Amino acid sequence: MATAMSCGVSSVFLLFYVFTSCLGLFSGGETFKRQVSVELNPGLTVTPPGGDLLHVRAVGDNDTLHFLFCSQGAPTLLLVHTNSSSSTVKVDWPLFLARNTSGSLRVEPESSILYSTAVVFSRLLEYDDVNDTADPTSDPFPPYELQNFTWSRLNLSGPVALLCGAASNFTNGSLCLQLSVFQSEGRGELWPRLIHTANSSQMGVWLDGMLPRANRSRFLLELQAVSGAYPLSRVEVHRSIDDEYTPSIFKVSQWVSSVNGSSDVLGFVQWKPVAYRQSNPALEDATPCRHSDPRPQSSEKTAASSGLIRAFYSEPDTFALNVSFGLAGEPFYNSTQFLSWTVLVGVGSPPVDSFSPLVVAIMAVGLGTPVVFLLLGGLWVCIRKRAADSTTAYEPIN
Ligand SMILES: *[C@@H]1O[C@H](CO)[C@@H](O)[C@H](O)[C@H]1NC(C)=O
Ligand SMILES: *[C@@H]1O[C@H](CO)[C@@H](O)[C@H](O)[C@H]1NC(C)=O
Ligand SMILES: *[C@@H]1O[C@H](CO)[C@@H](O)[C@H](O)[C@H]1NC(C)=O
Ligand SMILES: *[C@@H]1O[C@H](CO)[C@@H](O)[C@H](O)[C@H]1NC(C)=O
Ligand SMILES: *[C@@H]1O[C@H](CO)[C@@H](O)[C@H](O)[C@H]1NC(C)=O
Ligand SMILES: *[C@@H]1O[C@H](CO)[C@@H](O)[C@H](O)[C@H]1NC(C)=O
Ligand SMILES: *[C@@H]1O[C@H](CO)[C@@H](O)[C@H](O)[C@H]1NC(C)=O
Ligand SMILES: *[C@@H]1O[C@H](CO)[C@@H](O)[C@H](O)[C@H]1NC(C)=O
Ligand SMILES: *[C@@H]1O[C@H](CO)[C@@H](O)[C@H](O)[C@H]1NC(C)=O
Ligand SMILES: *[C@@H]1O[C@H](CO)[C@@H](O)[C@H](O)[C@H]1NC(C)=O
Ligand SMILES: *[C@@H]1O[C@H](CO)[C@@H](O)[C@H](O)[C@H]1NC(C)=O
Ligand SMILES: *[C@@H]1O[C@H](CO)[C@@H](O)[C@H](O)[C@H]1NC(C)=O
Repeated sequence: MATAMSCGVSSVFLLFYVFTSCLGLFSGGETFKRQVSVELNPGLTVTPPGGDLLHVRAVGDNDTLHFLFCSQGAPTLLLVHTNSSSSTVKVDWPLFLARNTSGSLRVEPESSILYSTAVVFSRLLEYDDVNDTADPTSDPFPPYELQNFTWSRLNLSGPVALLCGAASNFTNGSLCLQLSVFQSEGRGELWPRLIHTANSSQMGVWLDGMLPRANRSRFLLELQAVSGAYPLSRVEVHRSIDDEYTPSIFKVSQWVSSVNGSSDVLGFVQWKPVAYRQSNPALEDATPCRHSDPRPQSSEKTAASSGLIRAFYSEPDTFALNVSFGLAGEPFYNSTQFLSWTVLVGVGSPPVDSFSPLVVAIMAVGLGTPVVFLLLGGLWVCIRKRAADSTTAYEPIN
């Protein structure tokens, strides 16, 4: 009787354990939402010369995230997080367009600002990889300064903005940046299918149809991260065991702020180390990328190249890194004349990939089936034993 009892109890425990561990994998049900509104060139009725300024307001319960995207100079994305749901952006347009004073773009009230960070897409570098070593230092061409590109007007559709431009030197083709801001958590539709939240925005960057300066050209993109305090100063590379959303890629890189060496993250730029050689990529169009270590940069140069940085920051702190596309032995840019790469820019901790329900179900079946068989086997043994016990117990009466 006692063995039967303990058999029953342990079976129930096992079942309970399997059930809860399955539920645990599904957790994170409630999603955080923001009210998103879009405004082009706030406070201006005419189109400004030299490029547009997009303002996306994302209001949370009692905070606001302001996304500002500007093509006055090098394309720049600025995120300002405030602890008030009524903070506003004020632009002094004549000063803003003169691009020589800070304070021409302000977020008010100033005391509500919790954190701000900006990313400047500053340069496109090209090198002739004659020996197919993918060593970016080997034979560089003069870089393309994105501040000297001719940029289109911002093409808006909802909270998605498209900006395309070309250097005067481009024979054909263009470099495009597409900003997407989100109301709630989700995942991009195209590879690398990055997971995003209401606290982040996604920037897709692609170079389409441009004629390279050599047949064996490869490219790098220079990014500058700017902040008033706690700049993005280190890149962490995390490994994952799951590549279901980004086939063959098991890493995610995140460029994060560091608060006196503590692990708290105030802002981040996150990407998967992969670019694609087609706009609708197949697996063979994926090409790995690498990044250099972030290095401190001259803030004055950054402010001179970007209207938004000049306008918002009085004492910017800048770090820069390069992302290089392609490894030795891979096709060169001229094979498809297309290259696209995607990053997430946000405040707070970067989102963490989780398993999809499908993978969870497969794991549950894979791990659960042996457990169920064990349980059934155990139960069967218990029942047999009980039956044997009772028959032996009854025998003397016969
Ligand atoms: C923030 O909003 C929640 C409800 O959305 C409210 O309960 C809380 O008191 C607010 N906190 C502050 C500091 O205003
Ligand atoms: C900024 O530039 C404008 C003209 O472009 C000039 O009138 C003004 O004096 C300059 N201001 C400063 C602070 O340099
Ligand atoms: C946040 O809000 C409170 C109350 O409105 C304010 O006193 C404070 O200065 C704000 N800013 C920060 C950075 O906490
Ligand atoms: C390419 O290889 C040749 C022969 O090995 C060498 O002379 C040349 O310097 C290399 N070029 C570059 C850019 O590395
Ligand atoms: C244009 O091309 C020439 C020669 O290739 C180069 O020296 C110059 O720097 C290029 N200009 C720009 C803006 O890229
Ligand atoms: C880009 O523009 C800046 C400022 O107008 C200028 O100083 C620089 O020479 C330009 N660079 C190129 C490569 O044309
Ligand atoms: C704006 O983008 C849409 C698709 O995103 C495109 O169909 C349309 O032609 C674009 N408009 C302009 C003026 O570029
Ligand atoms: C530039 O694009 C046009 C139209 O797509 C094409 O006909 C032309 O051959 C291209 N020029 C070069 C140099 O690739
Ligand atoms: C987004 O930021 C808000 C305010 O800081 C925070 O309450 C919320 O948990 C964050 N959401 C996510 C998904 O990180
Ligand atoms: C690229 O290769 C083609 C064919 O191999 C050749 O005709 C052309 O001159 C090369 N272009 C450059 C810039 O080297
Ligand atoms: C690309 O460059 C290679 C190597 O020089 C050349 O053989 C090929 O013809 C080029 N392809 C195109 C499409 O220009
Ligand atoms: C960071 O460190 C500096 C000196 O090491 C100190 O003065 C400052 O208060 C620290 N800041 C924070 C937020 O801990």
